[in-house]
Amino acid sequence: MTWLLIIFIIFIFCFGFVIIFGPPYLPTLKPQIESAFMLLNLKPGQTIIELGSGDGKVLIYAAKKGYKVIGYELNPILYFFSIIRTFKYRDKVKIHCNNFWQIDWPEADGMFTFLLPRQMTKLDNRLNKYDHRPIKLASFAFKIPGKKINKQKNGIFLYEYK
Ligand SMILES: C[S@@+](CC[C@H](N)C(=O)[O-])C[C@H]1O[C@@H](n2cnc3c(N)ncnc32)[C@H](O)[C@@H]1O
Repeated sequence: MTWLLIIFIIFIFCFGFVIIFGPPYLPTLKPQIESAFMLLNLKPGQTIIELGSGDGKVLIYAAKKGYKVIGYELNPILYFFSIIRTFKYRDKVKIHCNNFWQIDWPEADGMFTFLLPRQMTKLDNRLNKYDHRPIKLASFAFKIPGKKINKQKNGIFLYEYK
């Protein structure tokens, strides 16, 4: 009984503390993943970053399409779960257990996010300073205030940073 309680508390803690730094875990649905990749329109072999990679579903979709994909996930339970889940695609998928705000984002062609409205301006500021090659952002659910949307479909907003 005590062990069950300890496991329950660890679970609540791992899923709870991330909301200090970003959105809580909510899985992205397949139609939205398909729309995001359709709008991003990347070529196989190109690289995509997912900020908050959750259970690894988006990473697997990207790897199956032939993209290289880098996920950042702060929740250690989801991190280990997604490492196991994506093992088959390990040549294409890299996952880091990091706070994505506290690291330099690597060179990539596309980015997928499912954040919170209050983080969209912070994301925009970071992408305006992103000094690698041009990058496309597919944001699920939330727009960047004041920025021109290049395309949209199914609740996904596409932005381009030159
Ligand atoms: C809305 S969910 C997206 C889930 C993912 N797209 C999926 O379909 O499984 C947001 C995810 O971001 C993670 N997260 C929140 N803030 C973070 C941060 N600062 N750094 C890394 N991951 C973070 C959460 O733990 C959660 O799994």
